[in-house]
Amino acid sequence: MKSTSSFLKMKQKQEPIAMMTAYDAPSAKAAAKAGMDLILVGDSAGMVVHGYDSTIPVTLDDIILHSKAVRRGAPDVFVVADLPFLTYNGEFSDTLYAVKRLMQQADVQAVKLEGGGQTLPTVQRLTEAGVPVMGHLGLTPQSVNVLGGYKVQGNTEETANRLVEEAQAVENSGAFALVLECVPRQLAAHISSLLNIPVIGIGAGAETNGQVLVFHDAIGFSDGFTPKFVKQYANVQHEIETALTHYVDDVKQLRFPEEKHTFTINEDMLGKFYGGIKS
Ligand code: KIV
Repeated sequence: MKSTSSFLKMKQKQEPIAMMTAYDAPSAKAAAKAGMDLILVGDSAGMVVHGYDSTIPVTLDDIILHSKAVRRGAPDVFVVADLPFLTYNGEFSDTLYAVKRLMQQADVQAVKLEGGGQTLPTVQRLTEAGVPVMGHLGLTPQSVNVLGGYKVQGNTEETANRLVEEAQAVENSGAFALVLECVPRQLAAHISSLLNIPVIGIGAGAETNGQVLVFHDAIGFSDGFTPKFVKQYANVQHEIETALTHYVDDVKQLRFPEEKHTFTINEDMLGKFYGGIKS
């Protein structure tokens, strides 16, 4: 299994880091087989799996359940779990409780938390306590109601400068990596070259140290909106809808099950159970 120092070395050797979200055992297994460097159990699960319109309703129990499944599917891959909304903005003991459950019960290697500013002491205290922390700046979906929507961040002089300062502060607080979401590629490139830790982009251009995508976006498993920064590698939604339509049709037309899908018992046995078949 890779470690935080593997990711640092990958950055130093300019070897791109491939990360993707996963929420269950089969998707984690597929990610592992594909050679994913690390898996994120993202709170995007709230939107792509649970049908919420934001990540805010996702709970610690939700992330633990998904993380346990991911761990079973990919026992040898470094797994990062998102700390859900408001689990790291209050008492540090509450944050420790959440992290302890994630690391001890779900066996994740690291946690990710969004924002700079007031979260920085938490990043530092967690790191000092032995918890690898991944930062997340730019578009931070848990703050969607403050940001006023899912929009590109850091596209003015003031916000770009603030983002650079926050990224440096996240690194200085001890984070082992940083996710940069939805920022102009030039700014992401600048931040990536400024920091020592790997910067993993999503909607942040090609000059970061790695990329992350949401599993369902990457495989086209949704009939909703697809952001501009997503490359769809398959159209699983279409495949599933076609398959299910065929199934319904087969059931209605009595084409399924066929003989090869059924079990039989020999007539003697049947006779013993039911006294034989009466026609
Ligand atoms: O929750 C998530 O999937 C994420 C990625 C978008 C980085 O945080």
